[in-house]
Amino acid sequence: MNEPLWTPGSPNTVIAGDNLPVLQTLPGSSFQLICIDPPFNTGRVQRSQPMRTVRSADGDRVGFKGHTYQTLRGALTTYDDDFADYWDFLAPRLEQAWRLLKDSGTLYLHLDYREVHYAKVMLDALFGRECFLNEIIWAYDYGARAKSRWPTKHDNILVYVKDPKQYYFSNEDVDREPYMAPGLVTPEKVARGKLPTDVWWHTIVAPNAKERTGYPTQKPVGILKRMVAASSRPGDWVMDFFAGSGTLGAAAQELDRRYLLIDAHSEAVAVMRRRFEGTTTPPQFVAAEGELAAS
Ligand SMILES: C[S@@+](CC[C@H](N)C(=O)[O-])C[C@H]1O[C@@H](n2cnc3c(N)ncnc32)[C@H](O)[C@@H]1O
Repeated sequence: MNEPLWTPGSPNTVIAGDNLPVLQTLPGSSFQLICIDPPFNTGRVQRSQPMRTVRSADGDRVGFKGHTYQTLRGALTTYDDDFADYWDFLAPRLEQAWRLLKDSGTLYLHLDYREVHYAKVMLDALFGRECFLNEIIWAYDYGARAKSRWPTKHDNILVYVKDPKQYYFSNEDVDREPYMAPGLVTPEKVARGKLPTDVWWHTIVAPNAKERTGYPTQKPVGILKRMVAASSRPGDWVMDFFAGSGTLGAAAQELDRRYLLIDAHSEAVAVMRRRFEGTTTPPQFVAAEGELAAS
């Protein structure tokens, strides 16, 4: 695949196919915002990998952006084989995310408590520690409560910018939250609400929610709208290359951004067709191997 399936002159687009070969064809520095929520279970056979590199003064391969991530990868392998396999899957895709971001751009990587610490190390190596902006905790309160430990009711979202001197961020248009102790602030402040911090209390997509598509890992559009509102401007291009039900596209439509969504699974593409049908700016649907027939 050499011809890009998308350029900045394209309309809103959904591409069906494995994201890596598609990303490799796209023109660099094209996106203001990339939000991804990758699966932890990549569907690949998990395998153990021997450590391929060891730390030494001059023997290491200097990798992407001059960082020595082979060494990190080797070190992680010794601790967690599953994560080393995940690294093989995710690292080349995150390299593409870095290449495809504009200098003012931002990456949001949505994970959970099991892999976020490894991923932080990985992204520090790929982007540079100075490019780390935040770890957002998305806290919710739904479902069963474990009795043998503290029930885990949060996800982790790592935020990295392409260039710490040029990135765009504005909380002017971000939705505000109710004060926890409204009695301690003025009625004007209570009416306005407070700016969100790096802990976002937001309900999951409830079984009876209007936005529910039926896609099992669907994230709430309210969460994505915060990312879009803070880290892009109207008219900017935003992308999710693990798109699932297309929640980033739904947020982008509401906030007047342009969007590219990629997913490898036909069920996700079918859900996105239904979700965007009849909306004001429906996307074109393209298959990595040619035009998709309308469903
Ligand atoms: C956790 S879901 C994303 C859910 C999404 N945030 C939403 O709100 O619906 C991860 C998605 O990544 C897709 N995926 C996994 N591997 C992929 C690959 N190599 N290329 C493209 N999509 C992939 C899966 O099909 C799945 O829909």
